[in-house]
Amino acid sequence: MGISIRVFLDLLPFVVAVSTSQDSKFIQTKVIEESPDCMNNDYNGFILQKPKLSLIDCARFCSNHENCTRFMFDKEDHICSLYESGENCFTSEDLSKKVSFRLTSTCDSVNCTRCSIGYYGDQCQYIIKDCTDGIQMGVVPLKKSLMSFIQPLANGPVLEVKCVFDWGGLTFIQSRETICMETDFNRTWHDYSSGFGNRHGNYWIGLENIYDIIQNHPNWTVIVAMAHGRGINLVHGYYSGFNITNAEDDYRITIEQYSARSYDPSGDALINGTYSINGRPFSTYDHDISNNSCPARFGGGWWYVDQPFCCRANVNGRRPDSGLPFEATWHWLDNQGNKSDYRRIQLYLMRGNIIYT
Ligand SMILES: *[C@@H]1O[C@H](CO)[C@@H](O)[C@H](O)[C@H]1NC(C)=O
Ligand SMILES: *[C@@H]1O[C@H](CO)[C@@H](O)[C@H](O)[C@H]1NC(C)=O
Ligand SMILES: *[C@@H]1O[C@H](CO)[C@@H](O)[C@H](O)[C@H]1NC(C)=O
Ligand SMILES: *[C@@H]1O[C@H](CO)[C@@H](O)[C@H](O)[C@H]1NC(C)=O
Ligand SMILES: *[C@@H]1O[C@H](CO)[C@@H](O)[C@H](O)[C@H]1NC(C)=O
Ligand SMILES: *[C@@H]1O[C@H](CO)[C@@H](O)[C@H](O)[C@H]1NC(C)=O
Ligand SMILES: *[C@@H]1O[C@H](CO)[C@@H](O)[C@H](O)[C@H]1NC(C)=O
Ligand SMILES: *[C@@H]1O[C@H](CO)[C@@H](O)[C@H](O)[C@H]1NC(C)=O
Repeated sequence: MGISIRVFLDLLPFVVAVSTSQDSKFIQTKVIEESPDCMNNDYNGFILQKPKLSLIDCARFCSNHENCTRFMFDKEDHICSLYESGENCFTSEDLSKKVSFRLTSTCDSVNCTRCSIGYYGDQCQYIIKDCTDGIQMGVVPLKKSLMSFIQPLANGPVLEVKCVFDWGGLTFIQSRETICMETDFNRTWHDYSSGFGNRHGNYWIGLENIYDIIQNHPNWTVIVAMAHGRGINLVHGYYSGFNITNAEDDYRITIEQYSARSYDPSGDALINGTYSINGRPFSTYDHDISNNSCPARFGGGWWYVDQPFCCRANVNGRRPDSGLPFEATWHWLDNQGNKSDYRRIQLYLMRGNIIYT
């Protein structure tokens, strides 16, 4: 501590002294390739860039910026980029030039003043169970959107997820964006169970993780958010009384009620009358209990109905610009059968029942 700078570049994690009494601890994370279109991806949480720094000065620069929890360093150009949240970094440039680190804590000998987002306690020893928990604990900052770490079950896996603070904290369980970080959603049972994709872009959190999260509270609402463009004309459907059974029972779904606000015109494509997916098991192309080849036809896993129409919505299918038949692409059929294709679809999970009347 003090003025000495303790750095062990070959012994990660490394520690940087940031004041006379405090040290920041960093661990190395991955640098992942992305398309240049992703530069404005909200979830990257870019703060600012500074040239001509050494790696250590970059780490200290991050430590000293109140909102920085992650940085990417360019080893050739010595450019230091700071980010607000998240684990890995993304670049459309040469991957071999970049290194990425995440701040895990800033502490003195007794207490920590800063933890990775989602962690809390004097020693950053606790972690939130989901994003609603994070807002209630005052651990997840009140910002539009950011990445957080959560641990649904004590001793279970730690997950990196998108959180938003609206409605008291929402955990993204699924996210589809046409803009960046393309992810194939036509996946196996194993993938749908454990989760896949990129937390900053397109992902499915995993049925096992959803199952674990909902064990922490009796009441949950799934919110379906869809937009024709980025953030514009976002419409929402609220599915309260959401529950799923365990893997042995194929994660059968229950939803008690659909509601929406008057300016959410999408209608209910999931639990209306004979179209309802209530009580249905989850199917994937390699674990297909839909009786109608629904996962292969729709191009993704879902709680399909035992009928040729499979489901009135397809949120895990192929991208709208894939040139495939309509049923295989993202869509949501309103109550008059009108077709809507969307450029952005997201499913959020929140504690409590939201019912609009
Ligand atoms: C950190 O984030 C908060 C909330 O967005 C903002 O008000 C504040 O100015 C930021 N701090 C810095 C140093 O940018
Ligand atoms: C550590 O935190 C505890 C309670 O949060 C506080 O009472 C104590 O004074 C702190 N110790 C130091 C050295 O800052
Ligand atoms: C959710 O489903 C599980 C498994 O069927 C059940 O044990 C639990 O009671 C249900 N929770 C609620 C709130 O209905
Ligand atoms: C869960 O919902 C039921 C029915 O709306 C309500 O009676 C109960 O108080 C809720 N439980 C909690 C912990 O919010
Ligand atoms: C359910 O479907 C009926 C027609 O079958 C329709 O009149 C009604 O508006 C639908 N309800 C919702 C909430 O979409
Ligand atoms: C598939 O069809 C059979 C025969 O109609 C039926 O008994 C079975 O329940 C169906 N499976 C599912 C998962 O709906
Ligand atoms: C999904 O994958 C399965 C297995 O590879 C394949 O048979 C099916 O055609 C695919 N569906 C779509 C819509 O891509
Ligand atoms: C469905 O489409 C018809 C014809 O374009 C239109 O008149 C009607 O308003 C649409 N319904 C909804 C709910 O958007």
